[in-house]
Amino acid sequence: MTESTPTTSSKKLGILIGGSGLIGGTLMHYFKTKTDHEVDILAPNSKRLSLREPDDIRRYFEKIKPAFIINCAIASIDSDPQLSYEVNYLGTVYLAKAALELGIPYIHISSAAVLPLGENLTEEQRVDLTHDLPNYTKSKLMAELTLEHLHQSKGLDYTTIRLAVVYGTHDHKIQGFHRLFFSIADQAMPVLLTNKEASHSYSNSQKLPFFIHHALEHRQEFSGQTYHFVDPHPVKLSELILTIKSYLELKVPKEIYIPYPLAKFGMSILSRLLRIFTRIGIDARMPAELLFMKSFYQTQTLSAAKLMASSFVDPKPEATIYTKLSTLIQYYLTRWEHLNLIGSFNRDFFDPKRRGEDFLYSPKRLLETTHRESDIPFLKECALGKATETRES
Ligand SMILES: NC(=O)c1ccc[n+]([C@@H]2O[C@H](COP(=O)([O-])OP(=O)(O)OC[C@H]3O[C@@H](n4cnc5c(N)ncnc54)[C@H](OP(=O)(O)O)[C@@H]3O)[C@@H](O)[C@H]2O)c1
Repeated sequence: MTESTPTTSSKKLGILIGGSGLIGGTLMHYFKTKTDHEVDILAPNSKRLSLREPDDIRRYFEKIKPAFIINCAIASIDSDPQLSYEVNYLGTVYLAKAALELGIPYIHISSAAVLPLGENLTEEQRVDLTHDLPNYTKSKLMAELTLEHLHQSKGLDYTTIRLAVVYGTHDHKIQGFHRLFFSIADQAMPVLLTNKEASHSYSNSQKLPFFIHHALEHRQEFSGQTYHFVDPHPVKLSELILTIKSYLELKVPKEIYIPYPLAKFGMSILSRLLRIFTRIGIDARMPAELLFMKSFYQTQTLSAAKLMASSFVDPKPEATIYTKLSTLIQYYLTRWEHLNLIGSFNRDFFDPKRRGEDFLYSPKRLLETTHRESDIPFLKECALGKATETRES
C-alpha cells in the first residue's frame, strides 16, 4: 500500500525505512504479496521521512501508530563521517526510541562489517570501537551497541540481523556482490584481485523477509537478540568469480592471482589518475567497494549456528549463491544491457524466446507471434502468479 493510505482494518501495520533499496524493496514485495491478509506496510521514502530529520520521524509517528518498525536504510558505503553518523547511527537511535515509546518491536539490519576477520564468527563477536574504523563500520557498530544498551537499560524490544555479502535481484544501485559481478560481465577485471583461499559468507536477500516475518511473530524468542542471517556454507571468492566467468563464457579474468600489495599499489595509481580526470572535468569514480578491497584477500565467515538452532525454518535450504547464479545472471545481464551499461551477451542464454531481438530486427514476426498468442489469458494465467515467481526466483 502507499504511504498516504494508512490501514483501517485489523491488519498489523508496519513501517519500513529504506524500502527503495535492495533489502527494503525485497521486504516490501514480500509483505505486499505474501502477507496481504495480516500485514500492511508503509515505506516512506527518504524525501518524506529522512532519518537525518528527527522532526520528520516525530511527525510521521504522530500520524501513524505502527505495530513494528523495520530499518533497512543506509547512507552509501563511501559517505562522509557526517552522513554515516546521521543516517546509520543517529537515525537508528531515533527509530529505536520511537519504538520504545510506542512499545513496539524494532528490527534492525546490520552488517558483517562490525565483525573481525576469521572463521565461524559468532553473534557475540565484534571489532573494538575505535576512531580509525571506516565510517560505515563505525556507524553500524555504534548502532548495534546503542540498541543493546536501550534493551538492557530501557527494555527496548529489538532484533539485530547481520547480513554478510548479499545476493539477490533488484539491486538497482549495483553494489557489493553485484558490483563484482558487473565488473566480470563488463570484462573490467583482467586478473583475480583475490587469493585462492579467501572465503566469505553470503546472505540470500529473498529469504530474509521470511525470517523477519517469523521474528516479528515470535518476539519472546527473538527480542533482544542478534542473528547472523547467512547461508550455512561459506564460499571461496576465487571459485565464485571463475564460475561466473565460465557461465558467461568469457576469457577474463585470467586465473592469475594478483598479490594484495600489488593490487593496493595499482589502486593508488588509479585513484591518482581519477583525481586528475576529475580536475579536468571528467566525472570518474572508483567503485565504493574497492575501499574494502583488503577483504577480497581475507577470510571472514559467519556462523549460522544460532539461526539454525532457532525456531525459524529456512523456506529454501537448498538455495545458495551457486544455485541462484543462473537466475541472477539472467536478471542482471538483461537489466544492464537494457540500461546500456554493458555490451550484448549471448541472447539465447538470457532471452530464450528472442523477443527483444525480434523487436529490433523482425517486428513483423513479433507482431504475428503476439497475435497468435491472443487467446492466452493475461490476468488468470500470468500476471499475478508468474510475476511473483519471477521476483522470487
Ligand atoms: N547490500 C549488501 O551487500 C549488504 C551487506 C551487508 C549488510 N547490508 C545492510 O542491509 C541494509 C540495507 O542495505 P541495502 O543494500 O538494501 O541498501 P541500499 O540498496 O543502498 O538502500 C538504502 C536505502 O536507505 C535509504 N536511505 C538513505 N538515506 C536515507 C535517509 N536519510 N533517510 C531515510 N532513508 C534513507 C534509501 O532511500 P532513498 O532511495 O529514498 O534515499 C534506500 O532505500 C543496510 O543496513 C546495510 O548495512 C547490506
